[in-house]
Amino acid sequence: MSEFLPVEPKQRHIEFEIGEPASEVKVELAFERKLELGVTFKDSMKQGAFGWYPYVEGFSAKYITGILDRFQPGNVYDPFGGSGTTCLAASRLGVQSYYSEINPFMAFVTETKVNSSIWASSNQNFFHDVCKDFIGKIRSKDFEKMVRKVDISSYEQAFPNRDFFELTDVRELLCARNIALEYESVHPHAKNLLLLACAANTVKSSNMTRRADLRRRRPDEYKNRVVDVKAFVADSVIRMCSDVAAMPNKLVSTVMVSANAMSISDDFESRFEFALTSPPYLNGTNYFRNTKIELWLAGFISSEKDLSGFNRQAITAGISNVTKNKPDDLIFPAVELVVNELLAVATDSRIPRLVRHYFSDMYMMFSQVLKGLVPGGKFVLDIGDSKFYGVHVKTDILLVDVAKAAGFNVDAECVIARRHSRDKTELKQVEIVFSKPMISAGNR
Ligand SMILES: C[S@@+](CC[C@H](N)C(=O)[O-])C[C@H]1O[C@@H](n2cnc3c(N)ncnc32)[C@H](O)[C@@H]1O
Repeated sequence: MSEFLPVEPKQRHIEFEIGEPASEVKVELAFERKLELGVTFKDSMKQGAFGWYPYVEGFSAKYITGILDRFQPGNVYDPFGGSGTTCLAASRLGVQSYYSEINPFMAFVTETKVNSSIWASSNQNFFHDVCKDFIGKIRSKDFEKMVRKVDISSYEQAFPNRDFFELTDVRELLCARNIALEYESVHPHAKNLLLLACAANTVKSSNMTRRADLRRRRPDEYKNRVVDVKAFVADSVIRMCSDVAAMPNKLVSTVMVSANAMSISDDFESRFEFALTSPPYLNGTNYFRNTKIELWLAGFISSEKDLSGFNRQAITAGISNVTKNKPDDLIFPAVELVVNELLAVATDSRIPRLVRHYFSDMYMMFSQVLKGLVPGGKFVLDIGDSKFYGVHVKTDILLVDVAKAAGFNVDAECVIARRHSRDKTELKQVEIVFSKPMISAGNR
């Protein structure tokens, strides 16, 4: 008998308000908007601070700004903050934002893009002088001397026997980073901004590339790229300076609620008017492996082994963070139908487990967002479906079940983009609007 069946007695069952199989769950397909070009991070790269760190998993700034314009919330919470697109868009519209993010490097990116840039914008002349001073240092003759002497043992210890970088390039990157860190005594926000300028060029300065996953560059890729760490970092700093000068006057800060979206403090109960997010997709990116060189450069890990701690706390969304036993998994009848289909065909036994873990974790997140929202507060989420071994996992429809089990109402769902699975079948990306009932089980 399969190791997944029957459901262990320890596992908790969630009773649905609606108990029918997922395929019969009716969601209003309100309208289909053709936004194929407007929902990826690509268009954010050229939009001021949105593009200070290249995050392929990021939201489109335009799409998020459009949603905030549509709902006009007094404040907004993003449980999966990532590179801070929601928080930065909110900041520019004069809206207070809150976020959770388990990857400490991504939380740093958010803090820097939003809170440090507010500091820079209010101290433009000072920030300009800091940038000039920093660029002067990395272009100086002394820099060359420092590069020759720099200690690279942290790199060798973190990634033994890996050649992620040419040695000269990692030396220059470490030197630029060390100089950036010295600005802590000038102002912590100045240090953050300069450190981000270094970190944003980590992959570009390496032998790697990030196309969804971080991998080695093939010899035929980026043939014309000449790695020039000093020029890359200086260009990022110059760009920051001009972006800061063009920032709107009224910017609002962001507040970190928790690292883990599956656990937020009761202090945030009924604090959020609106929530907006792009959660990890099922079998999507490994967010920690993908940012491991930035996590190391910015001082958040000292070895690849440290990544497993983050993986354990993250939403189980990729095959590499499926654990054998997760006795606390919540069991949803509609999800189990898909799990059973997968058990019949999957040669990799982690896939059915992945599906079960994913929806169980997403339930935890929904229940926390529900707690944080005011009664009547809306939660907008974008999600895509997946296909494994020919089994279509209708993630959007299953998430509706799970969100309802957590106590949400579903207001609308619309298709925002078409995608394709590896076998070329059509998949979609949808936007779902949930709302917290005016009278919910918690405040009845
Ligand atoms: C699709 S990305 C979000 C991208 C974001 N919308 C942006 O524009 O940059 C999902 C994020 O969820 C984070 N994450 C995964 N599990 C988490 C958890 N349990 N709590 C908080 N964040 C988590 C990942 O580190 C990743 O940055």
